[in-house]
Amino acid sequence: MKNVVVTGGAGYIGSHTVLSLIEYGYNPIIVDNFSNSSPKVIERLEKISNRDIKCYNIDCCNKDELDKVFKENDVFGVIHFAGYKAVGESVKLPLKYYENNLISLLNVVEVMHNNNSNNLIFSSSATVYGDPASVPIYEDFPLHVTNPYGRTKLMIEEILKDYVKANPDFKVALLRYFNPIGAHESGLIGEDPNGIPNNLMPYITQVCIGKLDHLNVFGDDYDTIDGTGVRDYVHVLDLARGHSLTLKKMEEINDNLLIYNLGTGKGSSVLEVVHEMEKVVGHKIHYVIANRRAGDIATCYANCDKAYKELGFKTQYNLYDMCQSSWNFQQKNPNGIR
Ligand code: WQD
Repeated sequence: MKNVVVTGGAGYIGSHTVLSLIEYGYNPIIVDNFSNSSPKVIERLEKISNRDIKCYNIDCCNKDELDKVFKENDVFGVIHFAGYKAVGESVKLPLKYYENNLISLLNVVEVMHNNNSNNLIFSSSATVYGDPASVPIYEDFPLHVTNPYGRTKLMIEEILKDYVKANPDFKVALLRYFNPIGAHESGLIGEDPNGIPNNLMPYITQVCIGKLDHLNVFGDDYDTIDGTGVRDYVHVLDLARGHSLTLKKMEEINDNLLIYNLGTGKGSSVLEVVHEMEKVVGHKIHYVIANRRAGDIATCYANCDKAYKELGFKTQYNLYDMCQSSWNFQQKNPNGIR
């Protein structure tokens, strides 16, 4: 089996991707410093997959530590999730984001180069498109960022584009995620933010479980179907499968720069998500219309034809499935994974 290092593999998308890699016949090796995830995720992944999963408690900013992983394992590829990702925090602490996200990426590429490991998937984000002039968003749309978190994503994309030009044997795939939500059907892993959630879905599930009193809907005066923000919500299991499909593609072709949107191609408003969750929980969800959140855009959803045609990426879950699995995870983990 080919070894695949998954940095940030104990995190939300990383942990679900670990399970998908196993399904596709790869051997995932987790690298995580648990700064934004629980070590308990590892034992839960082993329970779900019924097999041991090698894990290194390492910060990717520590190059020597990271190099040890590649000296002890023959690494076919790397999926790099590790990084800070809170937009609001990045505005307050830009240097923390530039230092951590850029140094960790530079270390990953250098260590891969020094150990002849030549397949890298980078966890990018729809945030690199900024406020698109139109929707759906295609991969060749202009790139524009409005916050330090998004700028680290865009800078890393540019660094990797330069690197593959100078190193034709090195392959990179940039996967631009839209809005991942949902959880593994077991309810053992899922989106488990520290403190008050920034993102919509964990906030809603914490209202449903009674940890938070109500949802603040950030604006209902956008030019959208019902005035609330529209996003492309994609089940994290679909997103995880997209990574395995990308690795398979990288094994088949010689192109050394692949770029894909991973979403559903469909937009849903905040209130549409709320109403779908109400069908799941069987009661109304208390929400209040609040002011717009600084930096939010009205509408963002993907065109995913390229991933469908080139990877065979087709989402299997609908919004109800996403809501139901998120709620199942929240019910089983009222205080998160502790
Ligand atoms: C979705 C919609 C909000 C919370 C962010 C990052 C992006 C990626 C995904 C990391 C918007 C509304 C939200 C709430 C609300 N993260 N909302 N009340 O902002 O689309 O994307 O998370 O990679 O890079 O930018 O996701 O879930 O925060 O917001 O009304 O309490 O829900 O206004 O319309 P977003 P989100």
